[in-house]
Amino acid sequence: MITLKSVSKTFDGGKTYAVKDVSFVVNKGETLVILGSSGCGKSTLLKMINRLIKISGGTIEIDGRDINEFNPVKLRRSIGYVFQGVGLFPHMSIEDNVAIVLRLLRQKPNNRLKRAHELLTLVNLNPQDFAKRYPDELSGGQQQRVGVARALAADPEYLLMDEPFGALDAITRDDLQGEVLRLKKELGKTIVFVTHDIFEALRLGDRIAVMHKGELQQIGTKHEIISQPATPFVEELFAKTADQCTNLVDHFS
Ligand SMILES: Nc1ncnc2c1ncn2[C@@H]1O[C@H](COP(=O)(O)OP(=O)(O)OP(=O)(O)O)[C@@H](O)[C@H]1O
Ligand SMILES: [Mg+2]
Repeated sequence: MITLKSVSKTFDGGKTYAVKDVSFVVNKGETLVILGSSGCGKSTLLKMINRLIKISGGTIEIDGRDINEFNPVKLRRSIGYVFQGVGLFPHMSIEDNVAIVLRLLRQKPNNRLKRAHELLTLVNLNPQDFAKRYPDELSGGQQQRVGVARALAADPEYLLMDEPFGALDAITRDDLQGEVLRLKKELGKTIVFVTHDIFEALRLGDRIAVMHKGELQQIGTKHEIISQPATPFVEELFAKTADQCTNLVDHFS
C-alpha cells in the first residue's frame, strides 16, 4: 500500500506548487491511474514516490513506512519504474538494458541473462530475435515493451509507469494497454499509471485520480467519477467525451 498524506512540491521556494496538498492511498493489487493534462504535476508526483524528487511537504509511506526511512537506492530498486519517454541506454544491448537492475543487485551474469530472456518473452519479444539488438534497432512500441520488462526485472511489488505509451500510434498503444492488463492479472502488481488520455485511464484504472494544476480534483472508480464528478473541472473533462466514456465503462466493466 502506498499512502500519500498532504504531499506538496515547490521548485521555487513556495511561490508556486507543482503538486499541492495531495492525499490518497494506492491499495495492494490495484491500478491507480493519475489523469491530468500536461504540466499538472503527474510526473513530479510519481517521482516523489520513489524519491527521484524530494518532497517539499507532507509524507509518503510504503506499507506503513515513511519513504525517508528507506535507503533511496534500495527504495528505487524495489519499485519498478517505467520512464516517460523510453529511457533505454542506447549503448547497451536489449538484454543488458533489461538486466541493469539485476547487475546493480550483483546477481550472477548467467542468472540475470536468464531472467532478462524470461522477461522479454513475458512482454512478447522473442529473446532470440531481440536480446542482442540495440535500442535504435527496435520500433517505438518494442522499446516500450523493453522499458516494461526492465521495470519488472527485480520482481518489484510496485510499478510506477509514467505515460509509457504516450508517443505511440493508436493500434500499438491499444496492444500495450492489453499487455499491462494481462501482466497485472498474471503478476498481481500494484501499479500507479500516469496518463493524459481519458480512454487509457478508463481502460486501465481500477480507480482514477484526476489532477489539475497540481491539485487532486477527485479520486474514485470510473463509475463514481463519471456519475458524480466532484468539481466542475472533472465534470467538463468527462462531459466532452461522455457518450464514448459511458460505452467504454460498460465495455470494460
Ligand atoms: N526540476 C524542475 N524544476 C522546476 N520546475 C519543474 C521541474 N520539474 C517540473 N517542474 C514544473 O512542475 C510542473 C509539473 O511538471 P510535471 O513534469 O510534473 O508535469 P506532468 O503532469 O508530468 O506533465 P506532462 O504531461 O507534460 O509530462 C510544471 O509546471 C513543470 O514546469
Ligand atoms: Mg510528465
